[in-house]
Amino acid sequence: MFESLKAFPTDPILGISAAYAADASTDKVDVGVGVYRDETGQTPVMKAVRLATARVAAAETTKSYLPTSGNAGFNRAITELVLGLSHPAVVEGRAVTLQTPGGCGALRLAADLVHLVAPLSPVALSAPTWPNHPALLGGAGLTTVAYPYYDAVSRTLRFDAMLAFLETLPPGAVLLLQPSCHNPTGADLAPAQWEELIALVKRRSLLPLLDLAYQGLGEGLEADVHWLRRMTAEVPECLVTVSCSKNFGLYRERTGAVIYVGRSPVETQAVHTNLMMLARRMYSMPPDHGAALVATIWADAELRAAWQQELDGMRERLARLRRELATALAASLPGQEYSFIAAQRGMFSLLGLAPGVVEALRRDHHVYCAPDSRINIAGLSGIGIERLVAALVRLT
Ligand SMILES: Cc1ncc(COP(=O)(O)O)c(C=O)c1O
Repeated sequence: MFESLKAFPTDPILGISAAYAADASTDKVDVGVGVYRDETGQTPVMKAVRLATARVAAAETTKSYLPTSGNAGFNRAITELVLGLSHPAVVEGRAVTLQTPGGCGALRLAADLVHLVAPLSPVALSAPTWPNHPALLGGAGLTTVAYPYYDAVSRTLRFDAMLAFLETLPPGAVLLLQPSCHNPTGADLAPAQWEELIALVKRRSLLPLLDLAYQGLGEGLEADVHWLRRMTAEVPECLVTVSCSKNFGLYRERTGAVIYVGRSPVETQAVHTNLMMLARRMYSMPPDHGAALVATIWADAELRAAWQQELDGMRERLARLRRELATALAASLPGQEYSFIAAQRGMFSLLGLAPGVVEALRRDHHVYCAPDSRINIAGLSGIGIERLVAALVRLT
């Protein structure tokens, strides 16, 4: 049956890991793959996660299935973390959270929900965006279109062009936005731009799909969801997808959620049951382990404080590395403008390099960034900055 299938090319970003692992150089620098790394190059198990793991293992009495909606304590924790308990939709019973296998599972479930009622609704994705967005949303049968977002050469947001494009979308079109730490650009909208965007979304009756994968790594846990909370409070309907991969370091535990905010408790309940139906068709029920860890951390004041402290440290380290890289580049490449790196947020920035330069970085300097010249700031340490800057001095 499958003899007609041709080998599918490796995901270019995952391919970087393989190329990096195969490189025998002792000077190599990996700023390609999108996972947090500490000073030693490790993607650490957070302390609170380690403590919660021991508690969960000791308290666990069964490995029986979770319900399709997932771990109830986790869903409560995510609602509080993302929307906050005083959010009008939470107070009025118009919000529901359903655990999913990671943020990817949440995106796919959200796309399936849209496809169920409006299969012809386009989904507008920023140009550029995380390469898995078109795959996940298009894979659910939706058509994706790209709205102007960021110019990698001038390193600026294309906000006017973005608004002009969004004005052309039909009512009911889905607008995917990243509330903070935009992947791959690191460039987030300014407050006045969010205000304008919310007004446009309401006027044009677009359905926002807010993809939250980096809460806590931009400005802080609350600040990173400020505009998400405003948007979800002001529009009649909204979907939010949440990933705990980065902020809890739970990548392989596949821990995420989809949140629906609707007009009424009745409508929200109907959406909830349909989300469960769609989940049942796809994977039945999510894995428990990561969700149990988040629920345990959230419910315990000491663990929660330890988690927040470590997350604050990760965010501060990213901001410091950004400043150090921008300063080092300014000193070594005086004619070029790299101050944008310090102004941006989260794990990524786009260097705006031509494909040939990206290739030469890898081939001649053992510096591995993504094909679009996205760098993972967390992959840099002091020595990594030196190597990246020295290579750019040679190549640009
Ligand atoms: C923008 C964005 N959304 C969603 C995800 C999904 O994350 P996961 O499926 O690992 O929870 C990621 C992961 O890199 C991401 O960068």
